[in-house]
Amino acid sequence: MPNLLVDALKCRNHGRPPVWFMRQAGRYLPEYRQLRSKHSFLDLCHTPELIVEVTKMPIDIIGFDAAILFSDILLIPEALGLNLKFTEEGPLFENPIAEAADIEALKSVEMKEAMPFVKKGIETLVKELSVPLIGFSGAPFTLASYMIEGKSSKDFKKTKKWMLNDPKSFHQLLDKLSNAVISSLNMQIDAGVSAVQIFDSWAWILSDSHFLDCSIKYLKKILAGIKNRNIPVIFFCRGSSAFAPIIAAAEPNAISVDWNANLKILRSQIPSHIAIQGNLDPDLLYAPKDELKRLVQSKLNEMAHDKGYVFNLGHGIHPDTPVDSVKFIVDFIKSS
Ligand code: CP3
Repeated sequence: MPNLLVDALKCRNHGRPPVWFMRQAGRYLPEYRQLRSKHSFLDLCHTPELIVEVTKMPIDIIGFDAAILFSDILLIPEALGLNLKFTEEGPLFENPIAEAADIEALKSVEMKEAMPFVKKGIETLVKELSVPLIGFSGAPFTLASYMIEGKSSKDFKKTKKWMLNDPKSFHQLLDKLSNAVISSLNMQIDAGVSAVQIFDSWAWILSDSHFLDCSIKYLKKILAGIKNRNIPVIFFCRGSSAFAPIIAAAEPNAISVDWNANLKILRSQIPSHIAIQGNLDPDLLYAPKDELKRLVQSKLNEMAHDKGYVFNLGHGIHPDTPVDSVKFIVDFIKSS
């Protein structure tokens, strides 16, 4: 199997960069919307055959160099005992973590038992896909934020107040979540994924000392807990261009960066054995094709001849992105 992705994540790719997009399996695809009209989002996430179908969609339709498992980071809190729903406004936990006793009450489960549908989906996908499969997990801080807020939040006040006023129980929660993340990533790796990405989507709201204490500390614990470190680990957070040297010191295989950074400058701050993934602003996909081509080419120029570069967006693709612009970028990079 061609494995441009793993070669680039291990900083040994001598050809063009591989390309995949965060949220490549999602609502911008009419085929996804059509399937979603028949099933709830959680039904898609809980059913191996549907996980397989959605994961393959962007590979068949667009031709990305890697597939990302169709699932959601919030299935871990669900496995630990929170009731998860998806409403028009996004995710909702009906019983969020409200006091320290709720942390004690979280279930202690092995993810291969709690999520057999994910294991089954991966096992089928690795047999059927022509490209490598990326597994993933949320990071403890981002998972804790959703579990405490109960839903998406603009200011994360509850989470930050808890972190500041009761650090002991807050860290107990982060520690329990790290164990769940390790269990989930080991299950996905055992089932056959070629790489994993850890999403600490909300860690950018932290100051640098709290970023070290609440994000990096647990990233290190997770890296130490992954049994097979031959499988590359990518770390993503918004704000990663500002935090990049701190993240690099924890030694993930790759850092996925937001669109604020110039990649050439960023590369000079990150050791050459750590790969860089990113970082096109997802809004740029609204640009006319000529302009889009110029913008993509300038990213390729910033990282020309870099053995550890994976082309991606700086965050997930927007649901109203034109499909032909996505295809245009992927074809352009493949011919570069
Ligand atoms: O990237 C992929 O294509 C793989 C699948 C994937 C999804 N969510 C599918 C999804 C991945 C890797 C995620 C990660 C995820 N989920 C994150 C971290 C990445 C990030 O965006 O920062 C977070 C914070 C979540 C939690 C989550 N899931 C939210 C806040 C929402 C609602 C907002 C939104 O985008 O709709 C979801 C729903 C979700 N997850 C959808 C998809 C395809 C849309 C659901 C639908 O069909 O209605």
